[in-house]
Amino acid sequence: MLPDGRSGRPTANQTMKIIIAGGTGFLGRALCAGLAADGHEVVVLSRSAHAAPAGATLVQWTPDGSVGSWAAALDGAGAVINLAGESIAARRWTAGQRARIRESRVLATRSLVLAIGHAAKPPAVLISGSAVGYYGPCGDEPVTEDSGPGHDFLAEVCQAWEAEARKVAPRTRLVLVRTGLVLERNGGALPQMLLPFRLFAGGPVGSGRQYWPWIHRDDWLGLVRLAIDREDLNGPMNATSPHPVTNAAFSQALGRALHRPSWLPAPAFALRIALGEMADALLLSGQRAVPSRATKAGYRFRFEELQPALDTILKQR
Ligand SMILES: NC(=O)c1ccc[n+]([C@@H]2O[C@H](COP(=O)([O-])OP(=O)(O)OC[C@H]3O[C@@H](n4cnc5c(N)ncnc54)[C@H](OP(=O)(O)O)[C@@H]3O)[C@@H](O)[C@H]2O)c1
Repeated sequence: MLPDGRSGRPTANQTMKIIIAGGTGFLGRALCAGLAADGHEVVVLSRSAHAAPAGATLVQWTPDGSVGSWAAALDGAGAVINLAGESIAARRWTAGQRARIRESRVLATRSLVLAIGHAAKPPAVLISGSAVGYYGPCGDEPVTEDSGPGHDFLAEVCQAWEAEARKVAPRTRLVLVRTGLVLERNGGALPQMLLPFRLFAGGPVGSGRQYWPWIHRDDWLGLVRLAIDREDLNGPMNATSPHPVTNAAFSQALGRALHRPSWLPAPAFALRIALGEMADALLLSGQRAVPSRATKAGYRFRFEELQPALDTILKQR
């Protein structure tokens, strides 16, 4: 294991069975491929019996707050990684969609914690998803894992999600990965940002002063590997780069990477009309979150600065 979380060649006794709940998504598929390349046996829990992600086998589960026969898959696992949950950006936040966003995370986590409780040989670690939305909108104040929770919808969702995962202690070590805006070409938020820039219509959103705590997906994968390997890591860990930037700086860097101008602002009122409350929570506010725990643990980021991260992503064919 290298300090930046990229693996060396694992020996037989370093490999383990790793369960990834919600492993069919943007982060899960990349994680499956990376962990399988490290030599681990990867099992994905999915609600449907569609094709398993490359490198993994698939077990169908029902993440409804109870356990089923799928729970046997967790027995003897080295790690369980919990990424399951309704997408927060796919639809407008109606009352029904808010309930789905919250309940899908709480119930999936409850199912996993119950399954771990039933396991004859419980997994060594549960790495459970969370998000920087935990902190709520924070202006330009730096935010570490010791900062308190916010009060908006996403902050409430993250608190409920984390509270459910905390029930796994002391049976199993717990790391709560508070993920920022994950950047890669083939998923997450970045592909949706590209079109206006390509059409020479890109620019900051709202005032542009809000911080966006970005992370390159390779570093997100590195931090999950760190959480698996480091037995001294417990509790929340921000998965964000050490240098969050304002939205205005993000737009400039994206414009440079695409060789396009970045001066046409998207006004806040128009975004609110189009997206409702989602606009405030996802675009018009943010957190200047820093990865204090990971840095103290000695993690070396592959991409500390935004411009090289975007240049590298957008150069890929
Ligand atoms: N990507 C980011 O920038 C980012 C940032 C912060 C936090 N996160 C969090 O990290 C986790 C993984 O992110 P991602 O981008 O990989 O998400 P994703 O692509 O939407 O994948 C999430 C997976 O969760 C499962 N899922 C979807 N709806 C569900 C529901 N109603 N109940 C139970 N499971 C459901 C799906 O798997 P099946 O259909 O196979 O069951 C899906 O593949 C999410 O919880 C997300 O909120 C992501």
